[in-house]
Amino acid sequence: MRFPLLAIATLSLVVRATVIVPGATWTDTSGNVIQAHGAGIMKVGSTFYWFGEDKAANSALFSAVSCYTSTDMMTWTRQNNALTPIANTMISTSNIVERPKVIFNKVNSEYVMWFHSDTSNYGVAMVGVATAKTPCGPYTYKGSFNPLGAESRDMSVFQDAAQTAYLLYASDNNQNFKISRLDTNYYNVTAQVNVLTASTLEAPGIVKRNGLYYLFASHTSGWDPNPNRWFVASTISSPFSAQQDIAPEPVRTYFSQNAFDLPLGTNAVYMGDRWRPELLGSSRYIWLPLTWASGVPQLIWADVWTLNIAAGTWTIASGTSYEAENGVVSGSATIPADPSFSGGKAVGFLGNGGSVTITVQGIGAAQWVSLYYANGDATWRNTTVSVNGGPSVLVDQPNTGGSHVILSVPVKLNLKSGSNTITFGAGQTNFAADLDRIIVYTAS
Ligand SMILES: *[C@@H]1O[C@H](CO)[C@@H](O)[C@H](O)[C@H]1NC(C)=O
Ligand SMILES: *[C@@H]1O[C@H](CO)[C@@H](O)[C@H](O)[C@H]1NC(C)=O
Repeated sequence: MRFPLLAIATLSLVVRATVIVPGATWTDTSGNVIQAHGAGIMKVGSTFYWFGEDKAANSALFSAVSCYTSTDMMTWTRQNNALTPIANTMISTSNIVERPKVIFNKVNSEYVMWFHSDTSNYGVAMVGVATAKTPCGPYTYKGSFNPLGAESRDMSVFQDAAQTAYLLYASDNNQNFKISRLDTNYYNVTAQVNVLTASTLEAPGIVKRNGLYYLFASHTSGWDPNPNRWFVASTISSPFSAQQDIAPEPVRTYFSQNAFDLPLGTNAVYMGDRWRPELLGSSRYIWLPLTWASGVPQLIWADVWTLNIAAGTWTIASGTSYEAENGVVSGSATIPADPSFSGGKAVGFLGNGGSVTITVQGIGAAQWVSLYYANGDATWRNTTVSVNGGPSVLVDQPNTGGSHVILSVPVKLNLKSGSNTITFGAGQTNFAADLDRIIVYTAS
């Protein structure tokens, strides 16, 4: 009996977190922060490949297109870089390489990467193309160009079931959004098949569902979030419907911008970026269930969730909610009332001498805790979080775009079994955001 017990104990040490926690710092199987912004996902066999911009240097300039692999879309292993800089070309370290997307070309049996290729001031607005015989490459750069002679900034590629593929791109100074067909090699575009005139769209993705083409895109507000939209058309070249929101407008797509939309079963997974322009490498990933349950595509906010790739389903974890105003409110902290707060109240003026201590039940593990808060300022705030009087960690609180718009940010805390106290705002000299409530999860 001793051997199986030992095996179980060892196993529990190596089992990695298999949950998706939007907004958390995601790490790969080596424990390094995942650097794959502006994501593109490709599936080959049972393996998913995640391509993205490595922004570890906190610069918008090109350092690498990374390549990560996973079979469950939750545990990611970094592979060799798929594309690296070449001096004196459009992919040098003084250029822009964004939103890499890879599709497989059957004609040539090769993988073809398309990306936004630009100068540092985004002035030439080109697409770049690179090819490889294996999914992670490394890719051989073919060149950059203006598709059909026009500008292309934010872009994606969409591969139709018929092996016909399209470039989706913000063109004409980001005013007109265009769709153009790729040639049989996927090296160039041959004809424009659609245009959404004066639509000012960025960050596109298309999901084909029940024969309909659903386009997802943001509008243009730089690195700042805006309400991303969806459009539908019966063919890739027919007129798209008027724009509609994929999430309630005030939350600005839960402070994210679309990067990729991956079909899953009868629904999809939304993969967005929560950009942090002054610290780009600390931009976070906001992946959320994208459901057609109501007949139209809508994001579902999920603090903690899991994917079942084989079943094509997801499960959203449920936790225990604790109202901040029911905690012990100390010092200069206040209890503002507003219908937008859960329970009609929150705790304000945290930090600078104000704090609140909330008693929660733990299971004796590292547990995800989501902080629901409102930060109406233009800047990010943060809050200290201390468990059972221990050392505090600092949790970032991106601006929510309004003083009564609620978002949540996650923090992983070691909770003991039974009662724990969690204190917010103690020992900091800046003001934290208003704390509405917290939700304690047992999943990790
Ligand atoms: C792409 O096709 C256009 C014609 O549609 C041609 O002018 C251009 O040179 C081609 N670009 C490349 C990179 O092959
Ligand atoms: C915490 O937030 C304040 C603004 O309230 C900001 O000035 C400060 O730089 C932040 N601290 C960190 C470590 O990000």
